[in-house]
Amino acid sequence: MVKKQPKYFDDTLEIEERIDSLLMQLTLKEKLKLLSGRRFSLWTTKPIRRLKIKRLGMTDGPIGVATHSSYRFNTKFPCSKNLSSTWNRTLAFEYGLAIAKETRAVGRHIVLGPGINIDRTPINGRTFEYFSEDPYLTKELAIPFVKGVQSQRIGACVKHYAANNQEKNRFHVNAVIDERTLNEIYLRAYKDVVEDADPWVFMSCYNKVNGVFGCEHSGLLRDTLMDNWGFKGFVVTDWWATRRITNPENSILAGLSLEMPKINIYKPKFLKKALAEGKITKEDINFVVRRLLRVMFQVGLFDNPEKIPKGERNTLQHKELARKVAEEGIVLLKNEKKILPLDKNKIKTLAILGPNANKKMSGILYGGAASVVPFYEITPLQGLKEKCGDKIQITSNVESADACILVLGLNHARGNDCEDVDRTRLELPEKQIELIKNTIKRNPNTIVVLINGSPIAMSEWIDSVPAIVEAWYPGQESGRAIANTLFGDVNPSGKLPITFPRKLSDSPAHKSEKTYPGAENVYYEEGIFIGYRHFDKENIDPLFPFGFGLSYTSFEYSNCKIDKDTMTSKDKITVSVDIKNSGDREGSEITQLYIKDEKSSIKRPEQELMNFEKITLKPGEKKTIKFKLSVNDLEFYDVESHSWKSEKGIFTVLIGSSSRDILFKQKIELM
Ligand code: BGC
Repeated sequence: MVKKQPKYFDDTLEIEERIDSLLMQLTLKEKLKLLSGRRFSLWTTKPIRRLKIKRLGMTDGPIGVATHSSYRFNTKFPCSKNLSSTWNRTLAFEYGLAIAKETRAVGRHIVLGPGINIDRTPINGRTFEYFSEDPYLTKELAIPFVKGVQSQRIGACVKHYAANNQEKNRFHVNAVIDERTLNEIYLRAYKDVVEDADPWVFMSCYNKVNGVFGCEHSGLLRDTLMDNWGFKGFVVTDWWATRRITNPENSILAGLSLEMPKINIYKPKFLKKALAEGKITKEDINFVVRRLLRVMFQVGLFDNPEKIPKGERNTLQHKELARKVAEEGIVLLKNEKKILPLDKNKIKTLAILGPNANKKMSGILYGGAASVVPFYEITPLQGLKEKCGDKIQITSNVESADACILVLGLNHARGNDCEDVDRTRLELPEKQIELIKNTIKRNPNTIVVLINGSPIAMSEWIDSVPAIVEAWYPGQESGRAIANTLFGDVNPSGKLPITFPRKLSDSPAHKSEKTYPGAENVYYEEGIFIGYRHFDKENIDPLFPFGFGLSYTSFEYSNCKIDKDTMTSKDKITVSVDIKNSGDREGSEITQLYIKDEKSSIKRPEQELMNFEKITLKPGEKKTIKFKLSVNDLEFYDVESHSWKSEKGIFTVLIGSSSRDILFKQKIELM
């Protein structure tokens, strides 16, 4: 006789009914077993064979399926800063979707990404893994990323919640942040991602926030994430974060479902003791187990594999997507006398040098947990050689070359865009600065291509160099994306998601040891004024402002209109503007909309990004962009009511091509 499958295997039932049915069958011992990872595996939960509960498998992200956690070579996508420099929501969805397919193909169910911590300091070692200094831009890309991942029934694990804004002292530092700043800057993207994209997993941070470690923070987890925002998934620790935790009951009561990777605080004997002493109840255990089970159903652990989306890795499609993101994410920072794009018909010889010219940026744990080793990586030199073919000669003779490409930057080594350590300076290494100075003396047509994941100070050499290209870490198709950009097959359209300061001390977190790196505590004294909010408030001229990026064509803005100049909390206004490609090649422009509150009861930023649109125009083509604004776009976090609030009065709508190139201002009144 065929044994009947338990009810929770019936995928025609609602998930909640299936969870109830499974939860009822689990013994206490089995429930406790589910709460921490397998002893000899870094990436999976424990199976429960009696009930046919398989292991839930995780793998590192967020820029591809990490090789150290999947034991496979996978597509290496460009780093998160490339993705955010595209300001392209559709690409973020496709990027998430592709990573989910690769996750499924290595037999895992959850990808540990996206990382959405806000860039507080430009020298944070993990800047390359995060999107932006701005919460709006961060959430606009994280939402489609998560939706893309989860469209494949793979769980996205949003990390590292919250205020994990530096690597130095990351395991123990206590981030001291006032309520408004925490909500308005550091939690905002997390909140919007939960409300809009319903991520299935959250990873708590290592650090403390206002005195409490992330993995036992009831305020952040239970009250804010779960009760206020309605998060239904489960929370996992950052790896080994519980080493510093002593009371399991705090984490259970905070709603932490999974301790990874091995048992420390969630040892069954500790949990049983806490139960026996009445510190936690069986209901508390059910609360955290239920969340874990929910995700197991969502990713299809109990479903017929035939019905689950299929995975695939290293496909042509993924390779092309990696190149497209790289190309759209490259930012042209300087282009004097239109030295770029290089003309294939005029250039006869090209010198290519610099430490990153032929350096591969992938290797096991290069940069930390985000590292992906692909089957191949095209270096800038290889990409340029491929492009030049036999038409252009690659030479080592700098003096005689028609142009010289200097490929510089960082390399994911410790202290150079790497997890666990921050950079110690904003400048390039001295040797590279010397190389720039020497090369430019020998060949004035020198173009600097930067490969790095965080801002670089350039004051010492910027004036002498005619062109600078910020390529970030462009992934496995790196060299091709760079060559296509330098030779104009691709017209650069990326814009900076982070301010480039002239010097580190211009940056808001770098006022004193107290504000960075701190010791036991790090004080966020600058409050909400980070990134461009700070540069605007203090009237500091950045090297390159937030939202900046050049193109090989030019755009004209005209005819900015609003459909009405007053608004109530119930209606919306429409702002429109015409953009024309006034140059001679096709190009894409990212138009940005900022809001300024003209008079408020508390100090607000000079401007805040509230919308953007990216359009592609043929030469001479003109299109109208429309933005809708509602009262939510005018709000700030109010500490009296502990909620978001708007105040009546006058606001200015600013439209521009960067935060420092505002072309139109329109006043509106909130009634
Ligand atoms: C990192 C996480 C990562 C985890 C697993 C931690 O050290 O902070 O981002 O997902 O390790 O590798």
